[in-house]
Amino acid sequence: MKTAITAITAQEILDSRGNPTLTATVWCGNVSGSAAVPSGASTGRYEAHELRDNDPKRYNGKGCLTAVANVEEKIAPALLGEDVTNQARLDRLMCELDGTENKTNLGANAILAVSLAAARAAANVTGLSLARYLGGVAGGRFPVPMMNILNGGAHADNNLDIQEFMIAPVGASSYEEGLVWCVEIYHKLKSILKSRGLSTAIGDEGGFAPNLRKDEDGLKLLVEAITAAGREPGKEVAITLDAAASEWAQEDGTYFLPKSKKQLSPAQLLRYWRFLTTHYPIVSIEDAAGEDDWETWQKLTERLGGEIMLVGDDLFVTNPDRLTRGIEQKAANAVLIKVNQIGTLSETLEVIYRAKEAGFDVIISHRSGETEDTFISDLAVAVNAGFIKTGAPCRAERTAKYNRLLELSKAAK
Ligand code: PGA
Ligand code: ZN
Repeated sequence: MKTAITAITAQEILDSRGNPTLTATVWCGNVSGSAAVPSGASTGRYEAHELRDNDPKRYNGKGCLTAVANVEEKIAPALLGEDVTNQARLDRLMCELDGTENKTNLGANAILAVSLAAARAAANVTGLSLARYLGGVAGGRFPVPMMNILNGGAHADNNLDIQEFMIAPVGASSYEEGLVWCVEIYHKLKSILKSRGLSTAIGDEGGFAPNLRKDEDGLKLLVEAITAAGREPGKEVAITLDAAASEWAQEDGTYFLPKSKKQLSPAQLLRYWRFLTTHYPIVSIEDAAGEDDWETWQKLTERLGGEIMLVGDDLFVTNPDRLTRGIEQKAANAVLIKVNQIGTLSETLEVIYRAKEAGFDVIISHRSGETEDTFISDLAVAVNAGFIKTGAPCRAERTAKYNRLLELSKAAK
């Protein structure tokens, strides 16, 4: 059987924030597939376990040698001889071998590396692109980028509390056209910042990270840049935000914005979002409330859900159970998908299809700590995701994903 797994190897590598992560390679005879695992700076409390060595003398405790050893010494023996195209079984075997809810034994990073590498190996064995292998004849729609061109929060050392200010070319007729518009806007934004003596240094995801008077000025800048690039704000290019408000949530249920040092009650936070969405062409806010504040999520969805996407990232952590709760309680109307939040491809697909069934929008996402791996580009096309978040058109780990989409798009013509 040419699809039988004959070897699995792993290796520690670096992510774009200068921290270690790992890559795994799954072999079927002389055909192989590799995949690397990303890592976030603003991780959700309910994400699957990212296994680190915790050896303070090496990489500040962040080494991934234990995860590498788990792949080679524990996962590999369990999967040898298995059919690489039986993704659901491979993922189930790894989850059973781990035996915990959060993948704490083997590490979600170790399991995910193998899970994704197996899919790549399967695509290579069958001679299909990864997008075609994953999506079959049902996939093939290209996502609209949510391009993060202004960085704040935990991703930048500036004074903006909102983590991501993004542009989405909702009026473009193709992926390529949308990409051109966004890149042109990115350059216009750079010129505007320069002309005002503001910093054009960049944050973790390649967006600019200037100090501004307040977060609202970031929205003004985006509208200005969109207009300067000859696009109509709202109609052709809309704004989307990721507040990453779990970073603001306090034990007592209030919100503290650490950069502006503002304290907000949930009701004030709601009013803040309402104010911004009425004055700016915002079509989506991610993590507009904290990961434990289901009540505010429900209120947000009730009040703003008819007009904009309310995207659960830390709220859902790509977890089927948390998403089901969100669907039942009408908290959010869209889900952010990050493969390493849950740790296997099968569970990721389960969440995506459950979200679609419930009428939720699906946004496939990178992490702030990325590698040159482009798996998420193929995944987005395979599942017909409405959107993809993969940063600014700057820093090679971000452009790699945009470039992979260009490649897939050309191949589809
Ligand atoms: P993270 O940020 O990768 O640092 O978690 C991305 C996001 O919050 O969407
Ligand atoms: Zn987020």
